[in-house]
Parts: sequence; structure tokens; C-alpha cells
Amino acid sequence: MKLTDCHNVEDFRALARRRLPAPVFHYIDGAADDETTKGRNTQAFQDADLIPNVLGGVEDIDMSITLMGRKIAMPLFLSPTALQRLFHWQGERAVARAAEKFGTWFGISSLATVSIEEVGALVSTPKLFQLYIHKDHGLNRSMIERCKAARFDALALTVDTIVGGNRERCLRTGFTSPPRLTPASAVSFAAHPGWTLNYLFREKFHLPNLDTHVDAGSNVAVSVADYFNTMLDRSMDWTTAERIRAEWGGTFCLKGIMSVEDAKRAVAIGADAIMISNHGGRQLDGSRAPFDQIAEIADAVGGQIEIICDGGVKRGTHALKAIAAGANACSGGRLYLYALAAAGQPGVERILGKLHDEIERDMRLMGVTSVTDLGRDQLRWRRPD
Ligand SMILES: Cc1cc2nc3c(=O)[nH]c(=O)nc-3n(C[C@H](O)[C@H](O)[C@H](O)COP(=O)(O)O)c2cc1C
Repeated sequence: MKLTDCHNVEDFRALARRRLPAPVFHYIDGAADDETTKGRNTQAFQDADLIPNVLGGVEDIDMSITLMGRKIAMPLFLSPTALQRLFHWQGERAVARAAEKFGTWFGISSLATVSIEEVGALVSTPKLFQLYIHKDHGLNRSMIERCKAARFDALALTVDTIVGGNRERCLRTGFTSPPRLTPASAVSFAAHPGWTLNYLFREKFHLPNLDTHVDAGSNVAVSVADYFNTMLDRSMDWTTAERIRAEWGGTFCLKGIMSVEDAKRAVAIGADAIMISNHGGRQLDGSRAPFDQIAEIADAVGGQIEIICDGGVKRGTHALKAIAAGANACSGGRLYLYALAAAGQPGVERILGKLHDEIERDMRLMGVTSVTDLGRDQLRWRRPD
């Protein structure tokens, strides 16, 4: 199987599985508890059907939108994800360049493997920094200041990771950051020499946005759950979010909102956008799918704040369904991470190209020339009997 055999997210997942040592693959692919929510995130799109209109004159299609103050060329962007140079040596650099090529937003995580400064200088496409609130407030302040200096376009405060999710695949494989050699993982690393040689002989793994303040995760191997449970500030609340918004002073997004109540509070503290998200099912298993929450949230706060449907997206039609339900845009993590792991920058570009073409083709088939033409009149949920 090679790059040109990959036509969709699932194809890239299969290729990533072959290319990665098991602990790394399962870190990306896995989710919390029984992984029910991860499955629901995509299934939810399949539980709603599109209703096309025909004879609309759809020669010229415009799928661009304005999101968080920046015009982007497609209504889908790349959510911030941790540890990308573990998945492919090109890491965040590949993702940034691919996002730039397709003219869309992308985010880097607090646990990114390329520095805020480098990403800031690398691409002109809109960039978001995802902030985890650490107990060490000096670290939080330092990341915010560095993002201001590097001219990041938005800050997204993740609010669904107050404790680490129970990711049992990581418990079984013993996944840590940086990866630890155990008898089981050694076999897997040896069976994937391409990945292992890149890991050993290219730029040393570290977490440049944290390692001025902490060793964990950069130099000391820890599980991601242990990192969250020991380093993050569980006392974070709405006052904290409001303070961070003021400290940042720029475009501000809350990532991990699920309830109407919280969406209203996000408006009240002056957030510009909310990512309706359950962290790709990696936190609270049994949580509802983001897509299923869009309509209620859009009815309550649509027009007052931008609404992003994050998670489960694998197809262009998924993006169209989310927008028809009331979202302003969509975002995803695994949809580009499998492609990054499978083939680096060409992989991310290929999946973005596929999704771009799907959105364009499906807009024509739906009879719309602009994504803002999509509404709930073109969507029906299948209700259980
Ligand atoms: C491997 C991996 C690492 C992630 N790391 C972070 C992170 O550091 N910060 C964060 O806010 N979200 C993180 N996420 C969640 C994504 O930003 C996004 O919410 C999620 O991937 C959406 O679900 P999807 O993978 O089904 O698209 C991560 C997701 C994955 C799969």
C-alpha cells in the first residue's frame, strides 16, 4: 500500500498502522474507556441525511468562509494535536505547510514538538495555539506571551481535559512521551525500522513550548494521562477562562464545549468561537457526539459566537452536514494525523486535497454555490422508531 492507494481517511489509517510502531499508532487511534464516543462522533453524521436541491446552476462554487476573523479557502481546518514529530519526523512543519497550501487554519498544541516561534515564522496561514492551563502559572503566561510575539491569530483554551481520559490502549502498550523502551515496545520499534531510524537520528524529540519550565514529557518519559493529572490545574474555572481571554487580548476560542449552558457562558465571557468537541472521544466516553449538539447550540447562540464542529469528520459530506445543522466550520485531528503518519507532508496534502474535492463535488450535488446556503431544510435526522 502506498500514498497513491489512499483515497480517504480510512485508507490513510490503514497505511499509518503499517508505518507506525504499535504504541504510537494506538496513541493516535485510541480513545477513552470503551471508545463508544469516538465511534459515535462519526456515526452521528451517518444518522442524518442530506436532501439535495437540483437545477441550481452550480458552475461556480465558493467554499471559502471567514472564521475567527480570517478568510479561509475551505470550511474545514486542522485541530491542534500533541507530539506530532513522534508520528512523522516532519511533524507540525508538514501540517503547517499543508494547511497553508489549502489556505486553512491549523493549530499547534501546548505539547507541540516544534516551537511557537518557528511555527509563527514558517507559514502565513491562520494559526491557532491550544493552551492547557498548567499549575505553573508562569508557564501559562510564558506561552501566551510567546504566542503574542509570534503573531498567532487565535488562542484556544482546552476545557475538556481537567483530568486525563482513561485511554486503555495506551495502558496496554505502555505509551509514554518520549517513548520508553520496554520489551513489548522494543519489538514493535524493531519491526518499524523506518520510523525508528528517523526517531533516533533526526532532530532530538522535545516539547519546546514547555521545556523552559518542565522536564516531564520532554526529557522524562511520562504517560499522557500522568502528565495531565500531575501538571494541569484542576481548579480552572470560568473566572480563569475570562482572565486568560483578557491576558491574551486577541481572538479567543474555547475548545471542548458541549452543553448549551456552557455555550452561553462562552458568549458571556466574550469568547469569539467555541469548538464543540469531546476531544475525539479521548476524554469522557459516553459523551454525545459534537455533530448531535450543533443544532441546539446554534439555536441558542448562533450569530453571537462562531461554532466549530470538531471530531469524527472523515468525509466532505460530514462537513456539509455540520454546516447545515448550524456550525460555521468543522475541524478534525485524526483526519490529518493518519495521513501525516503515513506519508508526511505529501500525505497531509493528499487528504486535504481529497476532502477539498469532496466538499466541492458534494456542494454541487447538493445544489449550493456557497456553504452559507446550507440550512436545516436540507438535513433530516433519522429518528429511532
Ligand atoms: C493524537 C491526538 C492528540 C491530540 N492532542 C491534543 C492536544 O494536545 N490538545 C487538544 O486540545 N486536543 C488534542 N487532541 C484533540 C484534537 O484537537 C481534536 O479535538 C480531536 O482529534 C477531534 O476528533 P477527531 O480526531 O475525530 O477529528 C488530540 C487528538 C489526537 C487524536
